[in-house]
Amino acid sequence: APAELRYDGQTVVVTGAGGGLGRDYAVFFGSRGANVVVNDLGGSFKGEGGGSAAADKVVQEIRAAGGKAVPNYDSVENGEAIIKTAIDNFGRIDVLINNAGILRDVSFKNMKQQDWDLIYKVHVKGAYKCAHAAWPYFRKQKYGRLISTASAAGLFGSFGQTNYSAAKLALVGFTETLAKEGLKYNIHCNVIAPIAASRMTETVMPPDVLAKLKPEWIVPLVAVLTHKSCSETGSIYEAGGGHIAKLRWERSKGALFKPDESLTPGAVAAKWKEIVDFSQPEHPQGPANAMELLESAFKLPSSPKVEQPSFKDKVVLV
Ligand code: NAI
Repeated sequence: APAELRYDGQTVVVTGAGGGLGRDYAVFFGSRGANVVVNDLGGSFKGEGGGSAAADKVVQEIRAAGGKAVPNYDSVENGEAIIKTAIDNFGRIDVLINNAGILRDVSFKNMKQQDWDLIYKVHVKGAYKCAHAAWPYFRKQKYGRLISTASAAGLFGSFGQTNYSAAKLALVGFTETLAKEGLKYNIHCNVIAPIAASRMTETVMPPDVLAKLKPEWIVPLVAVLTHKSCSETGSIYEAGGGHIAKLRWERSKGALFKPDESLTPGAVAAKWKEIVDFSQPEHPQGPANAMELLESAFKLPSSPKVEQPSFKDKVVLV
């Protein structure tokens, strides 16, 4: 029989785990030997209200199946309290899934300051506060796995979602930098852009489409990325409807100019075709050429090379 990916003895914190995708992650980790902190504020999908029922229900479900779980009802803006729940109950934290989220969709013309601020607070400040509270533990034990949740809206743009798109893409930059800072401590950070049926998407997608977007189909990707055998870090993944793919930045080969008085707007315009030509693309993991030239000229430390993923277990994993 194939071996299971397991998380025995590890503590996993899932934010926004009282429903939707977060619930499915929590139930999975609970079934694979992990101690789970089920965080959920218990409010509406617009970020109104709150309560303990959502988190409690998922904790009961995990315990009924023989797993170990405790609830936490704090907003992700109070990340310290969420991580403290993990430490107080289980003495450690190994995996953090930044999943909590809300929507305040409105066209940019009609956007209110409150719509912008609330989205920023839950998605960006919340992810920061939880990760920042977990980070000292990750560093000290030289182990950590962090997933943050972006969105296609952030990667590609989406009508009526300027607030949400900005917050979601912020988490990509956040992850890319944390991956670099965490590398030598074996802290791996990745970002996912899921698409799945939940109360968040049920208002904008028809039932027949939603039926093909089961939230449990996102779980295996998160399971692999947070497993100790996976060395992938600093990457972006899309998952939904059974399709899983990696995304990366692409840079055109570009045009090279002499950095002197000949670098005029006219000279740039004359080479525009080269600047936007993607026929010889590069896939950078750091700033453009000019920086690399500077790095070698002045012996500045360059960005660490990111390894390709490798799996220590040469067995079939489920
Ligand atoms: P959901 O609404 O079912 O789940 C989000 C959970 O987060 C809720 O249980 C909610 O109570 C909780 N939450 C909200 N604000 C919180 C706060 N301040 N502190 C703690 N918990 C809080 O939605 P879904 O779809 O499961 O979303 C999960 C994540 O995936 C979100 O970050 C969302 O933006 C993202 N996402 C979902 C997509 C989808 O297709 N469902 C598409 C792209 C991104």
